[in-house]
Amino acid sequence: MRTFCVAVIVLSLLSVGQPAPLTCETLMKPRDTEGPDLTGRWFFLALSAEHCIAPTLLDVLLRPSFVFDVTSMDAPNVYNSSIKITIDGHCLEQSEMFFYKDNQMFEVDSNNAALGKADVFLYSGCPDCIVVKGTDIIDTLMLISRRKVVTAAELAEFETQARCLGWSTPQVFKAEHALENCKVADDVSDEETLTIMQSIYPKMYDRVISMHDKIINCIANLVVSFFNSFF
Ligand SMILES: *[C@@H]1O[C@H](CO)[C@@H](O)[C@H](O)[C@H]1NC(C)=O
Repeated sequence: MRTFCVAVIVLSLLSVGQPAPLTCETLMKPRDTEGPDLTGRWFFLALSAEHCIAPTLLDVLLRPSFVFDVTSMDAPNVYNSSIKITIDGHCLEQSEMFFYKDNQMFEVDSNNAALGKADVFLYSGCPDCIVVKGTDIIDTLMLISRRKVVTAAELAEFETQARCLGWSTPQVFKAEHALENCKVADDVSDEETLTIMQSIYPKMYDRVISMHDKIINCIANLVVSFFNSFF
């Protein structure tokens, strides 16, 4: 009896030491703490979507890394985000204005007023991350951080969030600071685009060959979920 009691006490002490796994209910909650200050640099670390095809192709074909540099504008709650995408040593930059308040981001109209449906920040146990559930052409879940690398536990939590939605296993992007000579995407001429494409193409080809399992898996999943939707 005594041994049993000791065992029970030890077990309950052990379980106190372990944080309870977070439920989907918690993980799907919009962030309720004060929204983070968005200004400065962020790294886009992982992406999940309703289906794996977009994140997989993005990774296999382009192997991009993304950096966001956010500055606040004079108008309240209005920000300018410069998105720098690095692909095989080429850097392209595109800037976009948005409206941000209470953990929600909106596109803006010409008067800087919020427009359309919000991208919502969800709960995150990672102190300097934001998890954004966005609705655009495709619905996405993004993990963005001040750090280039998050811990395995932080990534696992994000994977659970994707699983809670029934979405694809997140595609993890490599993170690196943007190159200095980043070109504004709108100013890139057709010839330059062609030169970039020509330099990327052989690497793209190699990646398609080496990652064909991943692509086929994703397509197989797509076919299965397509048929499942009828039953
Ligand atoms: C937004 O930031 C980009 C990059 O820094 C800059 O080129 C652009 O002029 C800014 N847009 C506005 C409206 O200030």
